[in-house]
Amino acid sequence: MITSLRLLDFKNFADETLRVGPFTVVVGANASGKSNIRDAFRFLQGIGRGYTLAEIIGGKYGADGRGEWRPIRGAANEIIRFDQPAFALEIGLTLGNEKATYSIEVSPERFRTTGFRITYECLRMGQKEVYTKPRTPYEEIYIELDNGRRIDIKRDRPALTQLCESRQVGIRYRDRTRPVINALGSMRFLEPSLDRMREPTFPGANVLGDSGENLPTVLEGICSDAQHGEILASWVRELTPMDVRGLEFPPDPSGRVHLMLCEANGRKVSAYSASDGTLRFLVILAALFGKDSKEMYFFEELDNGIHPVRLHLLVDLIERQAEKGGIQVLTTTHAPTLLAAINDVTFENTSVVCRLEHNSDAIIRRVADLPNARELRKDQGLGRLHESGWMEDALFFTEDYDEAEDDS
Ligand SMILES: Nc1ncnc2c1ncn2[C@@H]1O[C@H](COP(=O)(O)OP(=O)(O)OP(=O)(O)O)[C@@H](O)[C@H]1O
Ligand SMILES: [Mg+2]
Repeated sequence: MITSLRLLDFKNFADETLRVGPFTVVVGANASGKSNIRDAFRFLQGIGRGYTLAEIIGGKYGADGRGEWRPIRGAANEIIRFDQPAFALEIGLTLGNEKATYSIEVSPERFRTTGFRITYECLRMGQKEVYTKPRTPYEEIYIELDNGRRIDIKRDRPALTQLCESRQVGIRYRDRTRPVINALGSMRFLEPSLDRMREPTFPGANVLGDSGENLPTVLEGICSDAQHGEILASWVRELTPMDVRGLEFPPDPSGRVHLMLCEANGRKVSAYSASDGTLRFLVILAALFGKDSKEMYFFEELDNGIHPVRLHLLVDLIERQAEKGGIQVLTTTHAPTLLAAINDVTFENTSVVCRLEHNSDAIIRRVADLPNARELRKDQGLGRLHESGWMEDALFFTEDYDEAEDDS
């Protein structure tokens, strides 16, 4: 489980930390930096996938020109906070009973021939370092293991994945690095595309794509357990006005599986004509109930296209699934209705991103840490507080005040 993300000189953050829980909500004005946080998580996901720094930042394309990995927004020129020499990310994780911290600092390559290089990297389990890539002169590039050994590495790819694959070290290092790589690589960034969700899919294609690809086969997999199928149908009934009794997955002559929603009156509606909101619900349900749901799902504006009356049901479902463990969900939002619906646990994991006046950097603060936040939430509701601009006002007051105190 991911517990925190620290961003140093990454895009518009100088040094900020986001607390991450089972369900994490990030609010903030337009252009405050919410999606920059997503970009930071994507960078780490790219590490988990074993890519080089150049691939993670600039994209990875096959010989046919097709993209396997999209570049980070802004790519090479805008990933580091303007006028800074390097950026760093530090992610906190719990792996079983152990706390792990993985840090990486990245700079542009000296002559820009290979894009970027690692200037510092470290993996800690508890307080102990498993390995460190120290800040060495440019020509020297090695990592130091906890047993004192030095291993030469390449400078253009994170040491984490190089160490995991290395034959020069004992299996212990693979056992230490693999769970971290898996946790990073299994983060998911769902940006459902209605066209993709409507497409029939081939049997066996049971990994939900980031655009919602393979929705029919993933749902079919979930429904192969009758009890799960009933839970799924009952959520569709709750979340939409349709009286859905079950889902069916008839094959077409080419063998592709179609998604049909069967209503109580015997009518069947195919994914082609199911409503956009219904498909959005289905893809979220597929993510939450899918077999390999040992992941963190990142949604940009989860509330997008969903009626406010149904939104609290969706929030409720995510909170229940996330609190069971295994799955984590992180969403950005502008919706007061979503904020009004979250429970006390999620409130503790709700943060606001804000750019203060006269400063192009953004700050991240837990909403619960703002003055009187808990009392005000009880009295007025978080949705109303958000609508009134209270979070930003509270930040301007407290942060400006802090700065003035620092100056004096
Ligand atoms: N390298 C950088 N250095 C400093 N600031 C940057 C850098 N790259 C991007 N930014 C800032 O980040 C802003 C974009 O932030 P982001 O896309 O995360 O906004 P957002 O909170 O997701 O907004 P919205 O709600 O509109 O989607 C840009 O307007 C720019 O000011
Ligand atoms: Mg955004």
